[in-house]
Amino acid sequence: MRVWGLALALVAMVGTACSTRPATRPQMARPPTVVDPRILAKRLAAMQPDWPATRPVNCRREKCVALTFDDGPGDYTAKLLDLLRSRHAKATFFVLGQMVAADPHNLARRIVDEGHEIGNHSWSHPPLTALTDEQIRTELTQTGDLIRRLTGVRMQMMRPPYGATDDRVAAETRREGLAQILWSLDTLDWRDRASSVVARRAGLAKPGEIVLMHDIHRTTVEAVPEVLDTLAKKGYRFVTVSELYGGTPVPGRQYTTRWMKRE
Ligand code: NI
Repeated sequence: MRVWGLALALVAMVGTACSTRPATRPQMARPPTVVDPRILAKRLAAMQPDWPATRPVNCRREKCVALTFDDGPGDYTAKLLDLLRSRHAKATFFVLGQMVAADPHNLARRIVDEGHEIGNHSWSHPPLTALTDEQIRTELTQTGDLIRRLTGVRMQMMRPPYGATDDRVAAETRREGLAQILWSLDTLDWRDRASSVVARRAGLAKPGEIVLMHDIHRTTVEAVPEVLDTLAKKGYRFVTVSELYGGTPVPGRQYTTRWMKRE
C-alpha cells in the first residue's frame, strides 16, 4: 500500500506541475538554434546552386576589391548598373526593404540578373542594437521575403545599418542564415558629396578590402568611373563579397575584409 501511495503522490505532483505550467510559467525565449552555421551556409548554397554566380577568381592570389553600395535602390542605381556593366565589374548591393518596395523599376531583379550580389540592409534602416529581438527579426525577414519574391534568391548576407551590431544581432542574423558584412574602407560619401573626394578615397583600396559607398547619392555614382579606372590600372578585380571570400560567408559571423574576424 505504501508503494501505491507513493506512486499516486508522484502522479499527483506531476499532474499539478503540468496543469499549472501554462498559467504560471512566463513565455520562454526560443531556444538557440541547433543548426551549425556552416551547415546552414552549405544548405543554402545547395538550395540555390546558381546564386550567387561566382566567377573563377582567386582573391588569395589576385588583387581583389569588393565595392559595396548601401541604402538603395535609388534614383542613381540604374546609372550605376550601366557603369558596372560597361566595365564588367561586379559589386554588392545592400538594399533597404522599403526602397525595394518603392522602386517601380524592380532594380533588385536587375542587380541579380546582371551578376551582382544582393544583401539585406534591413527594412527601414534602424540601429538594430536598439531594437528587440522580435523587431530585429522583422526588419530582416520582411526584406528577405520581398527580395525572394522579386528575384527568387534568398539573401545570404546582411549589413547592419550604421555598422551597429552586438551579440543579439549576431544571433538573429545567424538564425536567418545571414553573414554580417561590415567594411574596411569607408568613403564617407554620405557626408562629403564631392565625386573627386569619394573617388580619391575609394582609389586607396588595398587588396581584399570591402569598400563602403551609397548608391542613393548622385556624387557617389559619378565617382564610380574614376574609382574603376584608378583601381583597374593598379591591377584590381572588382568582385562580389562572395567572390572575395571564395564562397558563402558563414551565417552570423562578422566580416570586414577578406580576412575573417573572429567571433
Ligand atoms: Ni545604410
